[in-house]
Formats: sequence, structure tokens, C-alpha cells
Amino acid sequence: MFSIPGINKNYSLGVDFGTSSIKIVELEYKNGSSFLSNYGWIEIPQKKKVSDFEIKNDSDEEIEKIQLLKKLIEEMGIKSKSAYIAMGSFKGLSAMISVNDIHEDNLDDVIRAEASKYIPVSLDEVYLSSDIVSKRIEKNDNGSVAGKKFLRKKEKEVVDVLLVAAPKDDVHRYERIVEGSGLKVASLELDIFSATRSLVGDDLGKFLIIDIGAKITNIILVDKGVIRVNRNINVGGDEITKNIASNLNVSWDRAEEFKKKNNYLKEEGKAIVLPILNLIAKEAKRLVELVSVGNNLSKPLDKVILVGGGSDVLGIVDIFKETLGDGVVMGNPFEKVIIESDIIKTNIANISPKFSVATGLAIKGAEIYRKKHGV
Ligand SMILES: Nc1ncnc2c1ncn2[C@@H]1O[C@H](COP(=O)(O)OP(=O)(O)OP(=O)(O)O)[C@@H](O)[C@H]1O
Ligand SMILES: [Mg+2]
Repeated sequence: MFSIPGINKNYSLGVDFGTSSIKIVELEYKNGSSFLSNYGWIEIPQKKKVSDFEIKNDSDEEIEKIQLLKKLIEEMGIKSKSAYIAMGSFKGLSAMISVNDIHEDNLDDVIRAEASKYIPVSLDEVYLSSDIVSKRIEKNDNGSVAGKKFLRKKEKEVVDVLLVAAPKDDVHRYERIVEGSGLKVASLELDIFSATRSLVGDDLGKFLIIDIGAKITNIILVDKGVIRVNRNINVGGDEITKNIASNLNVSWDRAEEFKKKNNYLKEEGKAIVLPILNLIAKEAKRLVELVSVGNNLSKPLDKVILVGGGSDVLGIVDIFKETLGDGVVMGNPFEKVIIESDIIKTNIANISPKFSVATGLAIKGAEIYRKKHGV
């Protein structure tokens, strides 16, 4: 999306601002491959998490995020001077629109007019980007208006355009946070694009990514390398913690502890977890069915990829298979990244699903470096 040229070295840094934690991945690009150079995360204190979602433009929150990010990058000893960053897609919009018989010269105007149908605020308040994804020729039906029948030309050209919008206020806030921590912003995008890059990459199959975060679950349908549709639902790992806390009458922190040990979820906790996971799975199925009706996306999914900290639940793959079929797998965002140390390989295995966005961002940096230097 909004690229700022001229600042990349052979280290690239991805920073994911989640609602529960800030996550960082640094890659080193050398000899034609990306190597994991560093990774880490810092939790956002709980009391602030609520305000993060509900109150915008809170300067306390901004200062807190700067301090957290500064602390994290200092402790990690990162080498990059600039960062590829993402914001939650629930703050922006990504939509695939189809326009008919349009002349290239008019594209901008038509897209702005179409965008205003999807965006509830003035277009002056958002950064808008659009990409032509595909063009095809379709047959025109005969038209009818108010009882009259008429003939249209036989064929029309349909152009599929991916529309992405992000509120300027949010973009500027993220820029201030990153710059406040001493880094430059290399580029900013919606998190769904970053996760798709690390989990699907160049694969042209049809995939459903389900990213279960703390407060939000992102469901992303990717086909032929393009995000066709995505939906955010306000359910995530925090909902499980909340239910454990009220069920056992314990504090939030204690419930979070129980949850992360996973033993509770295996036994008596199943009754608490299942309805939440089933709700997510059903919502995902609904989205796939909705999109598949009457268009060329009706071919079956190649894979359903589960990621996000909230997917760290024992037996989750089997639970999702019941609703979404056999293709459900846990996602590994480091699949295309070389991890030299066996110890890190082992340590990262359990936590890797929550790094899909940060890794996708760092991969973007590596790809830009590769293209620029032809290596
Ligand atoms: N070991 C674990 N077992 C179970 N749940 C876990 C575990 N580790 C983290 N979680 C849960 O994962 C959630 C955080 O996931 P993640 O880091 O992907 O979210 P986020 O990116 O901060 O949030 P969002 O995507 O909603 O903005 C929290 O609800 C947390 O309790
Ligand atoms: Mg997230």
C-alpha cells in the first residue's frame, strides 16, 4: 500500500500491532534466501487493551505503544532502521469490486464512486488504493426496465478491482508510534495482506486463512494469489479467557494462565471452548458458501489454514475439520524462511502461528530488496 521508497537494506523488519501484543520479526536476506534473524513480542497491558479497541486517538495509548515498541526493539537488538508495519483490517476496508465496460482513463473516477458505496466516511479521510486483478469478457443478457425489453451489446468487459482503504488518522497514528520509537516507516498495509504473504505466498490455489487473535478473528479467502473476500468477527482468544474467568470465578490473569497451560481446555474446559470455536468455524463456512454461490470461486478449498495466538488450543484442527472438512491445518508462517539454529526451530514451533502478520511484513521487505538489487 503506501510505500515510502529508498529505505531498505538487507535486513527487513516487520512490526504487527495486534490488540493484545506487538510482534516483531526481522529477516536477513542473503544469498537469495531469507533467514530468520530475530523475533519477539511484548504484551500490551490488559487495562489498555480494552481502550485500544474502543477509544481512538488516545494520546496515552500512543505514548504507551511508543514505550513498548522502544523497549522491545532495544531488548531484541534489532539491526533494521525502518519497519514494514500493519494495522488491523477491522480499521480499514478491503473489497473486490467488479466494474463493467470501463475505459482506463475513467478508472480512477469510477473507482472513487464505487468506493464511496463501501466506505461510510468521506473519501478525503481515507487513503485509497486500487489494483486491477483481472479482466474478462462476459455475455450480456437482454435488459429490461419498467416492463420494456431492450437489446444490449452482446458482450461486456468485466474488470475486477481490489479496493483498499485505510483511515488517514490511523495511518498517521501508526507512523507517529513507529517514528517515536526511533524507526522509519518503510510501508504500511492491512494485516490480511501480510498474513496472506507468509502463509500462501505465490501459491495459486484456493485457501481460507482463519487468524484467531485476541479480540478479532480474521477470515480471509484467497484464490489465485488474491484476497477475494475477508471478514472480521469480534470473537477471539479473549472470549475464551472471559468465559473461563466467569465459569471458575477467577481473575482475568488466572484464567489466561489456565488457558495457556491448555490442560484446562483439554478436560472440563471443552464445554467453554467448543461453542466459541464452532461459532468461528461456522462463520468461516458461511463466508465460503456466500462467495461461492454463482461465481467461478465454487471450486473446493485446497486448505484451511489456522493461525493467531487464539488458535493455540489442543485439538483445534479436529474441531475445525468437523465443520470445514479434512483440509484444515495449522499455519506455519516461517515455512519459506531459513532458521539456522535447531534450538530456535524448536522454540518457535509452538508460537509461530501468532507471527504470520509480522513475518509477512518482513518478507515484503526482503522481496522489495531482492527486486531492487536483482539478487
Ligand atoms: N498458549 C496459548 N494457549 C491459548 N491461547 C493463547 C496462548 N498464547 C496466546 N493465546 C491467546 O491468543 C490471543 C492473542 O493472539 P494474537 O497474538 O494472535 O492476537 P493479537 O494479534 O494481539 O490480536 P488481534 O489479532 O485480535 O488484534 C490471546 O487471547 C491469548 O490469550
Ligand atoms: Mg493479530
